[in-house]
Amino acid sequence: MKFFPLVLASIGAVWAAAIDGVLFDTTLVSGSLQDFTVGSFSLLDLHKQLVSTSSVSYNETAVAYLLADYLREAGLTVELQELDDSNRYNVYAYFGSARDTDVVLTSHIDTVPPFIPYSVKGTQIFGRGSSDAKASVAAQVFALLSLKEQGLVHPGDVSLLYVVGEEVDGSGALYASEHLGAKWSTAIFGEPTENKLGVGHKGVYGVKLTAHGRASHSGYPQLGISASELLLPVLNKLLQLKFPEDPLLGPSTLNIGKVDIGVAANVVPKDGEAIVFVRVATALEEVDLLVREALDNISPLIEVQYTHGIGPVYLDHKVPGFDTIALAYGTDVPNFKVPLHKRYLYGPGSILVAHGDNENIENESLLEAVQGYQDLVKFVLSSQ
Ligand SMILES: *[C@@H]1O[C@H](CO)[C@@H](O)[C@H](O)[C@H]1NC(C)=O
Ligand SMILES: *[C@@H]1O[C@H](CO)[C@@H](O)[C@H](O)[C@H]1NC(C)=O
Repeated sequence: MKFFPLVLASIGAVWAAAIDGVLFDTTLVSGSLQDFTVGSFSLLDLHKQLVSTSSVSYNETAVAYLLADYLREAGLTVELQELDDSNRYNVYAYFGSARDTDVVLTSHIDTVPPFIPYSVKGTQIFGRGSSDAKASVAAQVFALLSLKEQGLVHPGDVSLLYVVGEEVDGSGALYASEHLGAKWSTAIFGEPTENKLGVGHKGVYGVKLTAHGRASHSGYPQLGISASELLLPVLNKLLQLKFPEDPLLGPSTLNIGKVDIGVAANVVPKDGEAIVFVRVATALEEVDLLVREALDNISPLIEVQYTHGIGPVYLDHKVPGFDTIALAYGTDVPNFKVPLHKRYLYGPGSILVAHGDNENIENESLLEAVQGYQDLVKFVLSSQ
């Protein structure tokens, strides 16, 4: 299908469709997407600016500056927090000089690769980060601006924190926890949760297996030690593991994400490597014990490295009027190593499209999130 972008009010699209081989122009005008404005500030415009600015992890500088300028113009006090001398910045914003706030609305400004430009088709907005997590960022900003305009928040109530590196190593959140020095009692994390409150998400446990065999001609395998024959039975053993289930998060699941063995069909492979991830739903120790048992007594020619060990995260999720959702993906929540009374996870869009080529957000979802964040903030402020 071919798209002809058309400017209608702000954003719109008309398309031509081929049905039964006949090309005809349908004037199926989807209409302009509905916007949300506070004064002269437009939600769709901020979302468009954010998505249009490439910010693949480690290259978030431009989007950090863009957001900082925007928030300053909107009347907030803004700090750019550089992660050492990396030219990478977290953005921290609040009203007046009140750095410590009851609530922090937070999300991340990096995306997975590759950059995908902004486009609109019907009621969907496409582009890298359109959902994960620039929709959360834009909706949180507008929730705060709207609450401020209504006189419902004051300095010291709410701040905004946008971090880098969530998609890779949580470096932004870890750095903010250690060096920002601001205090909050509640954090509301923005990630695609279909505008439901996350009840929790799985942790991650990682193992890397490296086999050190001996190469030989495949016609004379007795002269070699095959890395395949070392690794494959062990991987099979891991696949047979039965993990316990958590009532909220379901079972832990195991994935052999990468296997790299050998060089050619006619060579007994000398080296091999496998990377295994378990998405952890119950106590980390239970998963650790099962995996270690399976790896007990394996060949000494296999080196075992335990690479990741993060337990599941349980979140606060009892707020009147909100549905809940259990999630299988990781977030920055465990990287916020600061004392918090309450932690909520909520945001527009679905994780199911988040890292794909067709990442997108429905205009409806974006708008609903502005209301959702406002309701959450009001709930938290009034229940303190
Ligand atoms: C989403 O966009 C469609 C088409 O542009 C529009 O009809 C609809 O009202 C929008 N939804 C909301 C909640 O604004
Ligand atoms: C880094 O980000 C800038 C600004 O968004 C962009 O122009 C540039 O292409 C990006 N570089 C890479 C290597 O992605």
